[in-house]
Amino acid sequence: DKGGHKHFMAKEIAEQPSVLANSLGYYIKDGQVELPDGGIDFASIDRLTMVACGTAFYACLTAKYWFEQIARMPVEIDVASEFRYREPPISKGTAALFVSQSGETADTLAALRYCEGKADKILSVVNVPESSIARESDLALPILAGAEIGVASTKAFTCQLTVLAILAVKAAQDRGHMDAAQAAEALEKIKSVPALMNQALSLGERTNDVSKLLAEARDILFLGRGPMYALAHEGALKLKEISYIHAEAYASGELKHGPIALVDKHVPVIVMAPRDALFDKTISNMQEVMARGGKVLLITDKQGAKEAGDGVWETILMPEVDPFVAPILYAIPAQLIAYHTAVAKGTDVDQPRNLAKSVTVE
Ligand code: F6R
Repeated sequence: DKGGHKHFMAKEIAEQPSVLANSLGYYIKDGQVELPDGGIDFASIDRLTMVACGTAFYACLTAKYWFEQIARMPVEIDVASEFRYREPPISKGTAALFVSQSGETADTLAALRYCEGKADKILSVVNVPESSIARESDLALPILAGAEIGVASTKAFTCQLTVLAILAVKAAQDRGHMDAAQAAEALEKIKSVPALMNQALSLGERTNDVSKLLAEARDILFLGRGPMYALAHEGALKLKEISYIHAEAYASGELKHGPIALVDKHVPVIVMAPRDALFDKTISNMQEVMARGGKVLLITDKQGAKEAGDGVWETILMPEVDPFVAPILYAIPAQLIAYHTAVAKGTDVDQPRNLAKSVTVE
């Protein structure tokens, strides 16, 4: 049942504020993090290894910034298909965390099995609680997104981010980098996301207009810094999956080390720039793109657009948001752009070519 939407993907994008509220209610009680099944004490853990595939991997990439910044925890991340064959040494004191919507992805499951008996604790963040990955972990954390039908993952991604952000707050508190009041304040920021998402979802029409222009492009670049670099990857993946337009993500600061050679007037460059600590640096990279004739689509808030100045091709104005939770909110325009561009191109949005919802073979 598409609930009145044209595609499951549209329905699942629209559902995000309400499913996110489910995760928040499940994990946050009286301003404190509460994990099921005895949880985990991050004070006894020295490092975290996170492994996943595709969109779930980009959730790990985002979370790496959170765990490092607020919990001062060393984090290693890898895609499961590489991790499992690298035979990485797992030192004592390591927690291994696997993120998977389906809980059945073959490479992720194999990576989990590799860590059995080596890691101190095996955690998973899953949407399907009875899945293999959930069953084989010491602690399975459900994201409570509900069934996701569209092949392109949307609500599972933002729920994964939400659970990982909550977990990072717990780690910060366990490791003495936040007191109870600071943790409660960080959790309040996460709790503010569903309402902001509702505002961001009302940008549907605006992203639809922009997407009609993007649909003409052969290549599109996504740029971001910090956690927005992870979001740039997710935006590029979503776009290529369902619109079949070639899209790549780069860390803004890496641009001048090669990829800027790709920029000309035919290549739209999507810059994801909430007003965070790195905003000015991202904007200066954006100006380098514009100086070379690149067409910039800037996603930022009102003040950000003002500070960015003239010459931007198109702008999408987001609600103001605390930088900590900006990655969760900025997933919305990334998803809407992919969706509307695919619709403009007339592709099979829910069943894109060559892709399966659950990849149970390696
Ligand atoms: C992208 C997408 C895939 C999955 C990946 C992992 O939209 O859906 O990249 O994220 O195949 O799947 P799970 O999360 O089920 O392990």
